[in-house]
Amino acid sequence: MKYPIVKPYLPSQDKYQRYVNGIFDRNYLTNNGPLVQLLEQRLAQYLGVDYILLVANGTLALNVAYAALDVSGKVITTPFSFAATTSSLCWYGIEPQFVDINAKTLNLDTTNISTEQAAMASAILAVHVFGNPCQVDNIAKLAKKHQLKVIYDAAHAFTSELSGQALVSYGDAATLSFHATKLFHCVEGGAVIFKDKTSYEKAKKIINFGFDQDNKPIHVGINAKMSEFHAAMGLAVLDDIDYITAKRRELINRYHQKLAHVDQIKCQNWHVMEQRNGAYMPIIFVSETLQLDIAQLLAKAGVQTRRYFYPSLSQVDVYGLHGETPIANDISTRILCLPMYTDLMLVDVDYICDCLIKAIEQVVV
Ligand SMILES: Cc1ncc(COP(=O)(O)O)c(C=O)c1O
Repeated sequence: MKYPIVKPYLPSQDKYQRYVNGIFDRNYLTNNGPLVQLLEQRLAQYLGVDYILLVANGTLALNVAYAALDVSGKVITTPFSFAATTSSLCWYGIEPQFVDINAKTLNLDTTNISTEQAAMASAILAVHVFGNPCQVDNIAKLAKKHQLKVIYDAAHAFTSELSGQALVSYGDAATLSFHATKLFHCVEGGAVIFKDKTSYEKAKKIINFGFDQDNKPIHVGINAKMSEFHAAMGLAVLDDIDYITAKRRELINRYHQKLAHVDQIKCQNWHVMEQRNGAYMPIIFVSETLQLDIAQLLAKAGVQTRRYFYPSLSQVDVYGLHGETPIANDISTRILCLPMYTDLMLVDVDYICDCLIKAIEQVVV
């Protein structure tokens, strides 16, 4: 494919090699090594947060957040996300209670949470979908009223902000994915950002088998540690984060300029006060048939697309089918993500948009 749906960002090989040379010199490969600590410090500073813990991936980040915050039983969540959001709940023995989304923002809509659901749940797990800030004030109010923990799956929201703060600073915990395809990455990796020190200190032990300082298990733990090699990649990519952020914003703005007035598709409504972070470029077609036809025509023109997210997680048998979510079910059949990665050029975006517009004209007569 001429234009893949994503392409990992690679920093300067020399720079990465310099970090790796240090690992060889020290022969210290994992277990909270110096590069993991350095990356943690630099991310804390970049994001303006106090309690950030690096982990092996974004899925374990979610599980560690549940364990550190003592989440159990039922959790209110969105069906419009990547499988990891729900499967991490089920993996931890928690029952997902699916609540429908807002058709425009694609985020969980708090007005769809019933009093019974709130009363039965121990937490809300919301997703800042494609990096778009959730209704954090409404979620906080509801959580306070029903004594729920708030966890944000912020896997897509690394450079998103809200009211002058990093979006990951909202909630009792927010989790990030640093997978190779993400805007900022460590090849594989993730992080949990906690509001309070106690949960952070507990999570620090949980990710290392639940050991205390004397290697005695005091929590049920897991191995969720990030290695030095992964931290090395993170440090090299973080050096380029201003370039990555600016480039992604330029690309996403160009996509929106070109596609804003195309009949037959709609773009995601972003939080009115904030800028799109350019993590993904989703478009929503008027019908599933059109979406499927266009995806085929784009593939022929060398443009890869992805049905993301599909299917709606409330329709997946193994997750338990808890909740009526007609909006998410419908949108998941009509959504398509277009290529988005830092190395994409504005001329590439123009080409992709032209192909898309031509394909729509060809199909819709
Ligand atoms: C919304 C969301 N949550 C969680 C994850 C899981 O992250 P990871 O692949 O790092 O385990 C992803 C991965 O793409 C995601 O998109």
